[in-house]
This record gives sequence, structure tokens and C-alpha cells, in this order.
Amino acid sequence: MSKKFYITTPLYYVNASPHIGHSYTNIASDALARFWRLNDSDVLFVTGTDEHGQKIKEAAEKEGLEPEVFADRIVPRFIALWERLNISYDDFIRTTQERHIKVVQYVLEILYKRGDLYEGEYSGWYCTPCETFWQPSQIIEGLCPDCKRAVEHLSEKNYFFRLSKYQDWLMKYIESHPDFILPEFRRNEIMSFLKNPINDLCISRPKSRLTWGIPIPFSESHVTYVWFDALINYISVAGFLDDPDKFKRYWPCDIHIIGKDILRQHAVYWPIILHAIGLEPPKTIFAHGWWRVGEEKMSKSKGNIVDPLQIIERFGVDAYRYFLLREVPFGLDGTFSGEALVFRMNSDLANDLGNLLNRTLVMVEKYFSGTIPEIDSFENNAIKENIETLLQKLQDSFRKIDFSEVLSSIWELINKANKLIEESAPWKLSKENRVSELKGLIYSLFEVLRVTAISIYPFMPKTAEEMWEQLGLGDIKNAKIEDIKWGIGRPGTKIKRGRPLFPRIES
Ligand code: ME8
Ligand code: MG
Repeated sequence: MSKKFYITTPLYYVNASPHIGHSYTNIASDALARFWRLNDSDVLFVTGTDEHGQKIKEAAEKEGLEPEVFADRIVPRFIALWERLNISYDDFIRTTQERHIKVVQYVLEILYKRGDLYEGEYSGWYCTPCETFWQPSQIIEGLCPDCKRAVEHLSEKNYFFRLSKYQDWLMKYIESHPDFILPEFRRNEIMSFLKNPINDLCISRPKSRLTWGIPIPFSESHVTYVWFDALINYISVAGFLDDPDKFKRYWPCDIHIIGKDILRQHAVYWPIILHAIGLEPPKTIFAHGWWRVGEEKMSKSKGNIVDPLQIIERFGVDAYRYFLLREVPFGLDGTFSGEALVFRMNSDLANDLGNLLNRTLVMVEKYFSGTIPEIDSFENNAIKENIETLLQKLQDSFRKIDFSEVLSSIWELINKANKLIEESAPWKLSKENRVSELKGLIYSLFEVLRVTAISIYPFMPKTAEEMWEQLGLGDIKNAKIEDIKWGIGRPGTKIKRGRPLFPRIES
């Protein structure tokens, strides 16, 4: 059987509806999942929701609802957005599901028996929006050092996980696995964080303060800390207890895609939890940047969100998917702006790509009555080399998880083809009856469009399907990555010109 590729997104808190930030992570993960499926991999792509903890309890209380009922109301909004955005996930895990709860309790038992958990007194500061404890020295003017919101003082008995015991192991692991934390500057951040001794992790909450969590099997009076619970989803959903064969196939996970806000939990707590229970860490954790509104991070807790559904309504799903992955190099921060989206849509999508398809198909109809012509020679063609080098470029950039680089390479080819039309002046070739040259040109354009459709499929699946149909190629699901190659397109193919791919937007 083919090689496997296991990819995850974070499990989003159900304290509010999803916004652009969440859709960004899922669109990026979807592009990777689709790329690996094109590469004939057996993909397991998982997303879901994180439903326990103080923050959800408080959000539910504001609505006068029990947390379960509140979560049940919010989850469909995430699912609906993922459907709308064509996120091709294979499984959706909720941390309130039985399949997950029993794994969390099992892991707690193992750690407890190994002596990796101990009971202690906690006294310090807590930030509810971040669900994080802070040391007094970390608090800046009474505010959380991460999100700059008010923290509260707590003093209580809790269970602690011996993170510190594994600090040396983790540092060596990170040093010897250069792809474990990406981008590289994020790995450096984690390494410098690990230069100082790390604190053990408080993994419980007393029921006197919070009951909305997974019960701790060996304590009547505590529930599990939401982060400890949530991280474990990545093994629950892969069948750790339910389906050992499945688990053996998919673990270790190939990549956790996350935002930079939750890197420490993923790059420090998570590998240590796994190591302590005898499992391998994931192969890669990739932390992308933030979309901001003005200077601020877009955030559910802050309430400054842009609703993805409104953007999609106006510009369409694929333009939105394209924009997010093209505009900002994956890993860096970006500022969301409607004008930038309109600009990309008009220039890259309507002008470059949409026009190329439309002009080409109009010429196939006009000069060859809708059928791709035979050509005299497949050699010495102006565009052959550009097509031949594309596949390798895509493979390299996708492996680096550099979406904007993938897209630039595709657009280089598109622009080259548009230029070729201008330079070879097909209307003149036709008038002067230079049929052989005209056939060569049309076939080349057909090839560019065919390989472009496959290449953009991970980013804009609907547009790729539409192109494929208009090119007369049938169902794009049968396409393979190796078809990104010169000379595979068959002369004699009957095209089916349809509506333009993208309308021009008046700003
Ligand atoms: O942290 N820009 O959930 P969460 C880019 N439940 N991405 C953003 C973003 C922004 N402005 N805002 C959010 C949690 N994201 C935990 C995760 S995982 C086991 C538990 C994306 O609802 C980004 O992926 O706060 C970020 O890491 C994630 O949403 C945080 O979602
Ligand atoms: Mg958050």
C-alpha cells in the first residue's frame, strides 16, 4: 500500500464562531492533505474542537447554558465553515467524545503509575483566555505576558507532571531533528526558552473551581487541565486505544499545523507527554503566523474578528483560499485587507489565469472547431521546458511547506503562456496560414492549462475541477501528480468552454 501522511489542525475552542485565523490553518492543512493525496499517499487529515475548561464554561455561562449544550451549538458552525471551504478532512474529533476521554484517562493512569505525576500546592497567577499559569516574575503590570489581559491569583492543590525531568531529553531531540519544529526561527525560540530550567506542568483543576473537564481517575476532587486533555486528541483520533492497527499505520503524525500562539504546548509539553508514555513525537510541528486586524491579532476573545462567510459570499471560496496562501509567506504574520484581496482576485485570478483559459478555449473553437490539434513535433517547443521543471519545483516547495513559493512557480508558467500568446500573435498566424505554428501554440497552451489545473488543485479544488471540465478532460480526481509533464495531453480532446473562472471585481 502507498505511504501514509497524517496531518492535523489544532482543535479549536468552542467559545465563539470560527474566524479567518481558524480558516487559515484549515485551508493550509487542506492544501497539504490534497497535495499528498495527489502524490498517491494514504492521507489521514483531522480537525476538531476543544470543548473543556474554564474559558468554555465562562462563555457558556454568559449565554445561560450548560457547557455541553453551548458546545453543541457552536460545533456545527465550525463544521459548516469547513464544508463551505471544501476542507477535505477525514475525521472530526471533539474532546467530549468517549473515544477521546478514555485515552486521556488511560494516559493519566500510566503517568501516575510511573511516578511522573505528583500532588503539590499551586500558588500563582492564571490567565483564563490563554488557560495558562504564570510565575509572578512573568506578569507585566498585572497582565498576562501573552495576551495582555488581566490574570487572577490562585492558590490550590493540584497534580503536576514532571516536565523538568525530560528537559534534557527534549533539547537533544530538537537538536538532532532539524525538521521537528518549523520554521527554523521558531525552533530557535523554543531552544532559547529551554535554556532555562522549565517548570513542571500543572495538569489538574480542583472541582471546587471547575468541574467542566475530564475526571482524573485517581482523584475524586480534580478534573484534567484542558491543554493536557486537548493535545492527547492527536493519538485518540488515530486509534491509540480503539484500533491498534490504524494507530501503528499513522503514528508518528507527519505534521501538526498550528499557529505560533500554541507552539510551546505543542513543541514542549506534547513531545514530553508522548516520550513519557513511550511514543514517538510527531515528525514536524509547523507554527504559522497570525492574521492581524491593524496592529492586533484577530481573536475570538478580543472580538475583532472578520467573518470568513462574509468574505466568501462576496469573493467566492477559491479566491479566499488562494489569497490567504498566496499573500503572506507561510510562517509570517499578515494584515488582512479587502483591497489586497480584490487586487489579487483581479490580477492573478481574473486576468492571468481566467483570461488564459478563456482566450485559449476561444482559439481552439475558432481555429480548430473545438478540438485540440495534432502537432508536428513535441520537441523544440517554447514552453516545454517550463512545464518539465514545474513538477520538481512543486515537490520541493510543498516539502518546505512554502505555499506562496508553490503558487509563484505556477503563476510564472501562466504568465509565460500569456506572453507567448502576445509574442506569437495567433491571429496573424491564422491570417498567414502558418498552420503548423498555430497548432504548436494551441497545443502548448492546452498543456499549460492542463498542468496548471492539477497544480492549483490543492489550493482551489473547485476551480481546478471547472478548468478540467472545460478542457474536456473529465474528472480531475483521476489526475496524478506525475501528469504534470509535457506531452501527456491528447490531441483530439474536445474542449467544453464554459463561463469565465473569475469575475472582475469593481473595488
Ligand atoms: O488554542 N491568525 O484554540 P483556539 C492565524 N484549543 N491563525 C489564527 C488566528 C489568527 N489571528 N487566530 C486563531 C486553541 N488562529 C486550543 C488548541 S490544540 C490541541 C488546542 C488559529 O480556538 C491558529 O491555528 O484559540 C491558532 O493556533 C488556533 O487558531 C488557536 O485556536
Ligand atoms: Mg486562542
